[in-house]
Formats: sequence, structure tokens, C-alpha cells
Amino acid sequence: MKADVLLGLQWGDEGKGKIVDVIAPKYDIIARFQGGPNAGHTLEFNGLKHVLHLIPSGIFHEHIINIIGNGVVIDPMVFKREILALEKLGVNPRKNLFISKRAHLILPTHRLLDAASEAAKGKEKIGSTLRGIGPAYMDKTGRNGLRIGDIFSPDFKKKYDFLTEKHKQLLALYNFQYDLKEHEPSWFDGIETIKQFKCIESEKYLNDAFAEKKTILAEGAQGSLLDIDFGSYPFVTSSNTVCAGACTGLGIAPNSIGKVIGIFKAYCTRVGSGPFPTELNDATGEALRKAGNEFGSTTGRPRRCGWLDLPALRYAVTISGVTELIMMKADVLSDLDTIKVCTHYNYNGEKIDFLPYDLTAFPLTPLYKDFKGWKTNLQKMSADTIPAALENYIRFIEQEIKVPVSIISVGPDRTQTFDRSGVLV
Ligand code: IMP
Repeated sequence: MKADVLLGLQWGDEGKGKIVDVIAPKYDIIARFQGGPNAGHTLEFNGLKHVLHLIPSGIFHEHIINIIGNGVVIDPMVFKREILALEKLGVNPRKNLFISKRAHLILPTHRLLDAASEAAKGKEKIGSTLRGIGPAYMDKTGRNGLRIGDIFSPDFKKKYDFLTEKHKQLLALYNFQYDLKEHEPSWFDGIETIKQFKCIESEKYLNDAFAEKKTILAEGAQGSLLDIDFGSYPFVTSSNTVCAGACTGLGIAPNSIGKVIGIFKAYCTRVGSGPFPTELNDATGEALRKAGNEFGSTTGRPRRCGWLDLPALRYAVTISGVTELIMMKADVLSDLDTIKVCTHYNYNGEKIDFLPYDLTAFPLTPLYKDFKGWKTNLQKMSADTIPAALENYIRFIEQEIKVPVSIISVGPDRTQTFDRSGVLV
């Protein structure tokens, strides 16, 4: 068997949580492979809305094993909070949630360092979610990090103190004020909660699962344009959000990857700083924000909104070898007379159809193609009644990107999801 990978193709918030939840019943195992509590995967069903940050989106399905892979960074405080919230809903995650011993921990001081680093950057700040993601990955690659496996060691507290001491010296350099006592007790409580879960060699578990013909879905977080290597650096997150991240973040081989499912919104959003070629700083952008309820599910920040950007989408599809597309939130565009799609950029006087290395080095203007809006309430749409103007919009994207759009989603609920190619069957 092979693992399918589900990825966001824009700047995150594409709706991965909803889609994982919809396609989850097809899989035996759902595994998160990167990121951490900076993610906010929103699921809506039976009139209930739930946001997951660390826990894979298959947790509401009892028969599915959910794995937090080695590539994820875990804040025990957030973990405990998520577990309690799930238990309140009657979900018992102790049965079907496993954690990789190799996953790294986010310490309270990582969060403080994130805040200190952003404050020091001033206007140049990344716009981080301030969940300690960057500093935790820095300690991972700097070979100083603490891992889930360490929490069972008798020396754990000593290791924690050693690393925290180092962080305190850095915080002093930033001249950053803080009270660690505010955070430490709940962090250590979270560690005790983690100890109640199965902490495993998840790479072995997953490779054994292939041999047992189990089906696996690797669940990405953030989006391809926030990838540490291929995103709009430095305005990116600190992990590989592209398909290759699933191999390193789970310990599965490249030739074990099956379908690569890429999710994009029918328009674009971005939260935090950094270039956004098709951003709309006008009434249309405001209308998209309102209609799409575009506010961060982790931080509540208003998301920047703009038109669909095909050169950026093509880039993301190419880097990850996306085999099928899922288009989200077409309903948000339903009131518009005209919908624009960026097909090329005018970059320093030259017409190009790819994402250049530096979007800000030279003047860049998006070049648009106009589409007639569908002006139809899609709430009552079925797979057989897709409005012709919407079908035309989708076909154009398929032609340009050369990958089929297999699913379209026109609302937050599980039921507002339409299968164009029989993949949900
Ligand atoms: P960090 O990963 O929290 O350090 O944030 C780095 C950048 O990625 C910031 O611009 C964040 O707004 C953005 N970001 C991080 N996680 C997400 C996400 O799940 N959705 C959308 N943007 C995100």
C-alpha cells in the first residue's frame, strides 16, 4: 500500500481539516507530519464546529488511528487543552492517538523567544502565530531540542533546565521581560498528559502498516507557499510543508507516496506578513473576508484576501507532484459579477507565468483573466447542478494547472462537498 498526502497549496487555511474529516473514512491511519500548534484545522459537522491544532483530523472517527509524526513540534500545554476539549465532546482520544517519540517539544521559553524575536524585528516581523514554532525547530536543527522520548528519561527535568537556562540567556540578550512561573506548571501538567498516551516509533508503525495493507493519509499543515525552502522566505513557517515533508516527517520512503491531493481556495488568503501579489486592499477584498469569514482559526487575526494566483498554484503543484486538486470555498465568490484569476505576472516589464525567486526585488503586477460570476446560492447545489459559470471557472483552472479538480467544497459542513470524479465513493 501507499500513503496519500494531503497538502495546502497556498498560504495555509485552505480547509485541510474539513477535507481530511470528509475523506478520513477511507483511511485506517491519519498522520500529521509537520508544523505544530500554529495550525488550526477546523471541522464542522452535526452543527458542531471544532478546531484542532496538534491532533490529526481523523480523531472524530473511532476506527482511525491518528499519529502525530516525528516532524511535528508539540506544545504539551496545547496538547492537554485539546485532549480536554475532545473529551468534553465525548471523544476518547486515548484509544486511537499515538505520538512519535521523535517529535520535538515546544518549551515555554520557545514561545517567549518567538515573541522576543518578533518584537525585535519590529516592522519586519514575520507575523508568526507566536506558538514557539521557529525557536523549537531551531533547537531541533541545532541539535539541542527535547523530544517526546526524553520525557520518560529520569534526567528529563535536568535536560529541560539546561535548555531553558540557555534560552534565558538569549531572552536576556533581547532584553525581554517574562514570568516563566506563569507557564511552567501547566507545561509540566501537559507532559503528564502526554505520558498517558502511546508514544511510539511511528516510522516503524507506519512501515509495518504498509506491509499489513493499511491505508494511510499524511495530513499537511500550513501551505506550500509557507514552506521553509520554497515559500516566500523569510515570511514562512519553519518546516517543509510540501510533499517531501511527509517523507521526512513520518519516516516513509518517497516511493511509498500514492496520491498527492492539493487543496486550494477559489481565491487566495494570507495571514501574517510577506508578499501577496494578488492581494485586494479594497472593498472586494473586504467582501471576501466577510463572506469567507476569513479570520485566523488559531490567532483570530483578519486574513488578507485576494484573487486566485495561478503562477503560485502551479509552482506549489509542481514542487509536490500534486495528482488531484480540491477547490474550497467557491460559495464565497457567489455574489460577485466578475471574478478575476491571475494567469501571469508582469515582472520588471516582462510577462512571466512562474513564481520568481524574489517577489519584491522588482515591480510585479498580476495580469488577470475575467470570469463571469455564477451569482447562484451554492448552499442547495448538488453534484449534478453545478452552475455553468462555476464549471467554466473550474475547467479553466484544470487546463492551466493540468491536474483535475476532483472535489469542490461550497460550505463548511461535511455535506457541502461534491465529488467530480468519484473519489469519495
Ligand atoms: P509561525 O509558523 O507561527 O512561526 O508563523 C510563520 C508564518 O506562517 C506567519 O505568517 C503565520 O501567519 C503563518 N502561519 C503559520 N501557521 C499557519 C496556518 O496554519 N495557517 C496560515 N498561516 C499560518
